[in-house]
This record gives sequence, structure tokens and C-alpha cells, in this order.
Amino acid sequence: MRSEMEKDILKVLVTEEELKQRVSEMGAALYEMFEGKNPLFLGVLKGSFVFVADLMRACQIKSDIEFIAVSSYANATESSGRVRINYDLQQDITGRHLVIVEDILDSGNTLAFLKQYFLAKGAATITIVTLLDKPARREKAVTADLAGFTIPDEFVVGYGLDYAQRYRNVPYIGVLKPEVYSNH
Ligand code: IMP
Ligand code: MG
Repeated sequence: MRSEMEKDILKVLVTEEELKQRVSEMGAALYEMFEGKNPLFLGVLKGSFVFVADLMRACQIKSDIEFIAVSSYANATESSGRVRINYDLQQDITGRHLVIVEDILDSGNTLAFLKQYFLAKGAATITIVTLLDKPARREKAVTADLAGFTIPDEFVVGYGLDYAQRYRNVPYIGVLKPEVYSNH
């Protein structure tokens, strides 16, 4: 496939094949955990939209999906530490078994905030699933119950993850060339 973005990628960190394999394993793990429990998948927008679509199809369990949109980043590569809800829940989650689906666990600010928020809204249980885990930069004591890949402290794009809203449609996880940031 032709790609306008390939020339901006310095290296591939996780290939399409590796993503497919791991997401399939994660779907199977969630099946074991939630069979018969009617979990509510809760995708954290925008970054998780690709992952949650693949993950749900890798887990053939009776479930539904909800979304919340948050931001903590004003187009930079560093977290501001504050989390803002841009699009809120559209249903009552009281008593539900939530499976929060995130693209990446970085400082932990987003998931620490969301966990409290959903508990306050009456969720019965909260399970955190993240595609990527970057433990080097953690500020809050949050751990994922299920993580796809642990990655080094590098800013990554693709498979839903963006830099300044771009590169979400890159089909693998990659690192951008430094000049892409400096030209911005
Ligand atoms: P945290 O609140 O610092 O854990 O970061 C959570 C959010 O920051 C993620 O949902 C991403 O949207 C964004 N983020 C963190 N690291 C990266 C990265 O390497 N690439 C793209 N987005 C990132
Ligand atoms: Mg983002």
C-alpha cells in the first residue's frame, strides 16, 4: 500500500503481525476473565479506537461498548498532568464490569483519573487493558491488568496513537524521525 507517512517513520517498534498475534491473545485472556459476565468495554478516545475495534472482535463474548474522550496533551509529547473530559459517558454504568481500553499507559495520569471517575459512577469492577505500557515515565501508581507490549521511553505513533492528531492510521507502532517534531 502507498503511504504518505512512511518517510516520517524512523523505526518500527511493533509490526502489524505482532499486533495481530498479541491482540488475539489478549482477547482470549479477556474471554477467560469475563465469560458470562456481560462486561462493558470502555474505549478511551481517540487513541484506543483501532485497538478496541480489534480487541472486541478478538473476544467473542456478549458485551457492549461505551466511549469516553479525554485529553491531557495540548499537541505536545509531554503530559500536562491534568485530564479533561471532552466527551462523557452516555449511559449508566452502575454495577457494570468495566474493561477500560487504552492505547498507552504513560504517566498514569489519565488512567488514575478515569479509575476514580468510574468508581464514583458506580462501576462494580474495573479492569485496565492497555496496548502499550511505558513504565519509565509513571507518575501515578497505576498498573494495567492486561498489557500488550512494554515499550521503552520513546514517543510512538500508529495503530490509533497520534502525534498532533496525525499518524493514527499507520498500521504498526513506530517512532517518528526527530525532524518531524522540529518542523512542526
Ligand atoms: P498518561 O496520562 O500520561 O498515562 O498518557 C495517556 C495518554 O497520553 C495516552 O492515552 C495517549 O493518548 C498519550 N500518549 C502517551 N504516550 C504517548 C506516545 O508515546 N505516543 C502517543 N500518545 C501518547
Ligand atoms: Mg493522544
